[in-house]
Formats: sequence, C-alpha cells, structure tokens
Amino acid sequence: MASSQTRDSRSYELYNISVKIFPGGVNSPVRAAVKPYPFFVERAEGAYIYTVDGQRLVDYVMGYGPLILGHRHPEVEAFVIEQIKRGWLYGAPHELELELARKILGYYMPSGMIRFVNSGTEATMTAIRLARGVTGRRYIVKFDGCYHGAHDYVLVAAGSAAAEYGVPSSEGVPPEVAKLTFVASFNDLGSVERIMQKHGNEVAAIIVEPVVGNSGVIPPDPEFLKGLRELADRYGALLILDEVITGFRLGLGGAQSYYGVRGDLVTLGKIIGGGFPVGAVVGPRDIMENLTPSGKVFNAGTFNSHPVSMAAGLATIRVLESGTPYEVARSAAQELVKAIRDLIEDSGIKATLNHVESMFTVFFTEDEVKRPEDARKANREMYSKFQQLLLKRGVFVSGSQMEAAFTSAAHTKEVVEETIEALKEVFEVLGGAAKG
Ligand SMILES: Cc1ncc(COP(=O)(O)O)c(C=O)c1O
Repeated sequence: MASSQTRDSRSYELYNISVKIFPGGVNSPVRAAVKPYPFFVERAEGAYIYTVDGQRLVDYVMGYGPLILGHRHPEVEAFVIEQIKRGWLYGAPHELELELARKILGYYMPSGMIRFVNSGTEATMTAIRLARGVTGRRYIVKFDGCYHGAHDYVLVAAGSAAAEYGVPSSEGVPPEVAKLTFVASFNDLGSVERIMQKHGNEVAAIIVEPVVGNSGVIPPDPEFLKGLRELADRYGALLILDEVITGFRLGLGGAQSYYGVRGDLVTLGKIIGGGFPVGAVVGPRDIMENLTPSGKVFNAGTFNSHPVSMAAGLATIRVLESGTPYEVARSAAQELVKAIRDLIEDSGIKATLNHVESMFTVFFTEDEVKRPEDARKANREMYSKFQQLLLKRGVFVSGSQMEAAFTSAAHTKEVVEETIEALKEVFEVLGGAAKG
C-alpha cells in the first residue's frame, strides 16, 4: 500500500503548498495535529478514507463525530441528492426543517421548540445569549477542559488553583468577556457549589458536556449531572447540556436519556446534520420564544436550517431509528476497547482507556482519567507516537490526545479485526521502546 507519510508523497507536496496559504496549513487546528503532517483525502466510503497517495485508512475520526453511519451511507446520499435536485438554498421555510425538528423534539423535548443554526459553535453561542436574555443575568459557569466551540463566551480555561474568574484561552478574547465565565472542575460538584454559593444569583447558565469529548472521553460520575441539575434549580440558573457530540450518539435521546438528566436547553450539532454543517438549540416554549423574531434575543443566519443539512440529518436519524447502527457501532467500540485493554496489560505500557458507547480514548497514563486535568497529565508524546504508528499501518485516529475515537455503523467485525491486527503491531513497537 502506498504511504502518505513519506516525503515523496502527494500529501507532503500539498501540505507544503497549504502552509503558505492557510495559517498552520489547515482550516481547523486539530487537523494539524496529525503527524508527521496531515494526509490529504481523495475520497471516503464506509469505514474508510482514501488518501491522494492511494493509502486506505480505517477511519476512527469520522469527521470528529457526525458520521455515525460511516461515509457515504447510501440512504443519506440518495436523500441529499434528491434534495439538491430541488435546489439547495431558499431563504424561506421548507418542509424538511419541520420534519427534522419534529423528529429531534420527539426524542428531546416533545412540547419544546428548536432553532436550527449552522454549527455547534453557533448553537452554544445562541443558547448562552438566550439564557442571559431570559434570566437577565450575566455570568455563566463552564467546566475546565470542556469545549463548546470557538466563540468568545466559552473560550475560557481555568486559571491557577480552581480559578474564580476565567482567563481567556485565546488571544483576542477581551478579559472583560472572560470574566463573565466562572470555571469549575468536571466531576467535582463541590467546585460548582462553591461558585454558586457566592455568585449563584448572578449566574444565567451552567453549560456542560454531559460526557466530556474534548479532553478525550471522560464519562460523568453517576451523581454529577443530577447534582448540576439540582444546583441550577436551586439558584434559578439554566442548565445547558451541550450534546453536540453526544446527541444521537449515545442513543436517540442522547445523554439526556442515557443518564436520565434534563437540560433546560440542549445544544445539538454534528449527527443531526448527517455530516453537513448544522447546529440546534432545543428548549421549552417559554424560553425559546425569546429568540427573534418572536422575542428580543437575536439569532439569525443565511444558512440556518439549510435544506441539504436538514435532508442529511433526517435521513441519518431515520436510519438510526432501526437500532442496528447503534448495535454495530457499540459492539465495534467494545471489541476494540477489550483488545486495547489486553494489549495494555500484556505490553506493560502505562495507559488507561475511557469508553462510553461508540466513543473512547486511550490515555497514556497509569492513573484514572476522571477530569480533564488528569487527561492533560497523560504522556502526549506517547500518544503522538501511537497515532503515527497506527497511521503507517492504515488506521486513522485523531492526532490529538484530547479527542475521542468514534466508531460507526460501518465498523463491521472485519474492519475491527483489521484494526486489532494493526494495534497489536503498534503495542509491540511501543512496548519494545518502553522496555529498551
Ligand atoms: C461539545 C461540543 N460543543 C460545541 C462544539 C462546536 O461545534 P462546531 O465545531 O460544529 O462549531 C463542539 C465541536 O467539536 C463540541 O464537541
């Protein structure tokens, strides 16, 4: 098989052009984390991505989550093409947005309302603005290591020692904005309680990834989400469940159903667009009607409820409703997790594995990873080596330790077996290096 990782490859040639045209050579930073440099994609099908160098890769990135049915699922493709033939942008209402809305609300909030936007970033930005508008309060609480998109309100990480006030995690975010965000520690209710005791009456919303997917996968402790629900209620703040990753991934009802917790607002993205750009805010009527044009909290978008995204999302959910895709994706993840756990044990490599349904992460640390700060202590150089060794053997996992691996309905037993063979070789090399 040809390789995209050698300096005589077309990928390397294209990457060298890209660094002169795109900042960092890419259009979204995580793509640059793939080492030795990002490969270029020619096409994708099922569980596989094919590079411009003719390399076939088993894909565990899956577009960073949306492609739960795999690449080019035939029913999604057919429905999208059918929609394209009817035109792809109207600037006016159309029936597909209603159909997809009804489906999503049926699983998330049957008596609620929804606003479609274009990305997860826009969804959380809109939800937070809405929470502020409705409560008349300014502050929000977010969790260290949770990611909610690339807008100013949420680009805030903890300062030192359980920081009271947030500090910007990007240049260009005014400190005045970052100060409106309190940063708490995931799976640590005490850290939230302390903030709420002091400032709870000024907090508009607590926003959380119910399963952290952006510091690698970190599941919530059983009582954590319930505790957040109670704290939000006690202080009259809204609980925003950011289900951009978990929505329709943990099951049709997402993390809300999976963990039995209710968000006042739920943000969605990724899977509900079937691989096309999308985001959504779901909430009860009395809150949602505060959005423009019925209310005074502004949201708008040329591409909101884009017909092609609506078509792809609707077709995806229809296929998911058969239940089979979840079974395949879940059992692929289970098989891989079991194999990796055995390989970790046999090789003596210091690693641990977190796993929820069809998402998992290998962390190169002996300690449990229960909070993002634990994930940051993992050996990232080792992870990068792991990623590169896998890539050479035809398996694509994210270049970043801080991302999840995703399985899909296209990850059949054969695909998983092929991956396990590659993993065996990789752990042998890593184990040898660790001993030597
Ligand atoms: C939990 C979560 N929220 C929001 C976002 C932002 O979504 P988008 O990249 O579509 O803007 C992401 C992106 O990965 C996410 O994982």
